Amino acid sequence: MINIAIFASGAGSNAQNIFNQFKAEPNAHIALIVSNKEDAGVLAFAEEHEIPYAITGNEELVDEETMMAILGYHNINFIVLAGFLLLVPKYLIKAYPNKIINIHPALLPAHGGKGMYGNKVHEAVKAAGDTETGITIHYVNEQFDEGEIILQTKCPVLETDTVEDIRAKVQALEHEHYPKVLKSLLGK
Ligand code: GRF
Repeated sequence: MINIAIFASGAGSNAQNIFNQFKAEPNAHIALIVSNKEDAGVLAFAEEHEIPYAITGNEELVDEETMMAILGYHNINFIVLAGFLLLVPKYLIKAYPNKIINIHPALLPAHGGKGMYGNKVHEAVKAAGDTETGITIHYVNEQFDEGEIILQTKCPVLETDTVEDIRAKVQALEHEHYPKVLKSLLGK
């Protein structure tokens, strides 16, 4: 059994979608949700679906002993970041080589890096006058949004698109591709 932990700081629409897509998988399941925010929507979802969860602020996250104990307790073999806003510490990257992935709501290296999340990314796309945007799914390394790219898919940006329109298009791509990529990485 592959036990997946999803790290999320926000609403967790990707976390919820992945959880739903993995329900029927016999050999992999969402064993843990980790959030650095007590009031993250993703935690209400975890409670509702009886998924174990941990609330870890930056202090816990950088504390190797604490985090490795939590992940070890749940036998976590793979980590999926879905809107997780803190930098993943080095020890975690070492402990999970090529087993931590992230999704970014733009075509990296454009519009990435520290502080580029949520609508800030889509606002930047619009301000730059880009005619296309999309998603990037990548391995996580020690820098924000810089690990090896696994998949990018694109959608058009029209001049008339609002930031909300762009967000909706990008989110549709995220929900379509993130579970698929995860399944293919896990050899399903
Ligand atoms: C997504 O756009 C993801 O690409 C980014 O953060 C957002 C999380 O959204 N890294 P949600 O919490 O999954 O709805």
